[in-house]
Amino acid sequence: MSTFPQRRPRRLRQNPVMREVVAETALRPQDFILPMFIADGLTEPNPITSMPGVYQHTEDSLLRAVEEAANEGVRVVDLFGVPLDSDKDATGSVSLKEDGILNRGVAAVRQRFGDDVLVMVDTCLDEFTDHGHCGVVDDSGHVLNDETLPLYEQMAVAQARAGAHIVSPSGMMDGQVAAIRAALDDAGYTDVAIMAYSAKYASAFYGPFREAVGSSLQGDRRTYQQNPANLRESLLEAQLDIEEGADFVMVKPALPYLDVLSAIAESSPVPVAAYQVSGEYAMIAAAGANGWVDQERVMMESLTAIKRAGADQILTYFAVDAARLLNQR
Ligand code: PBG
Repeated sequence: MSTFPQRRPRRLRQNPVMREVVAETALRPQDFILPMFIADGLTEPNPITSMPGVYQHTEDSLLRAVEEAANEGVRVVDLFGVPLDSDKDATGSVSLKEDGILNRGVAAVRQRFGDDVLVMVDTCLDEFTDHGHCGVVDDSGHVLNDETLPLYEQMAVAQARAGAHIVSPSGMMDGQVAAIRAALDDAGYTDVAIMAYSAKYASAFYGPFREAVGSSLQGDRRTYQQNPANLRESLLEAQLDIEEGADFVMVKPALPYLDVLSAIAESSPVPVAAYQVSGEYAMIAAAGANGWVDQERVMMESLTAIKRAGADQILTYFAVDAARLLNQR
């Protein structure tokens, strides 16, 4: 009689094929959404120092980069606009203009790629306001909820008109999804989907993004983004967004909030996305560049963990690198 264990989990780890066969989670290129920046006034792409390998694009370089992504099977891009400082004002009015930088970018990608690539777009004012907040502010600097909603409505309709397949309100104003859904429907854009930033935390992990968009923000967003200490609040936020008509809900950041992601994914009746944000990217890229971690393996491990926790889609600046690796396997 053997006294050794009969139940041997190591049997299923004995070689690469066995490990592959029993893998519970597999990444696919089409899981990824690539966030991209288009900036006004550039003659060539501008590297973002704190995000090595990520650029503020011109219209031309944007289209080339979208094509490169599509060739690797990444078929959704999420566009952010970087206006000229001189175009910023208190209400972010350049975001509504057809010839504003973001709507131009949306139109260019949609015209070139039709329905072969889905154009998603950030529906938020912070890149366009001179104070850098996601909404309009009163004299004391307080961000006003209900006064901001009509601007989001107009912005979403302008983005739909430019050709967006998916709008993504990220400003964390209460009622933003319902307001945008009604405005889109009234304008005849019933097919334009909404990916709601539902659980969006007031996170220091957005640091490099602020460089990427040339943010004018002084202070923080703690009166509208969530306290990192809270989980239950995210369940409420997701529930409200679903009731208001969100087609997707999103959790952001990703890796530090896998518990939140997992809790929402457990009961969500709509797809759940997670956003691996700029700071998550920067930390992996910086440690990788120093040889402190194996960048490729850390990248794939973190993306796998995000999917395992329940993400159906992952927004990541690594989208093309990760897809390329998957395609080579
Ligand atoms: C708001 C927005 C932000 C990010 C995505 N949408 C910045 C913020 O909330 O301050 C951050 C993305 C990232 O850090 O990668 N428009």
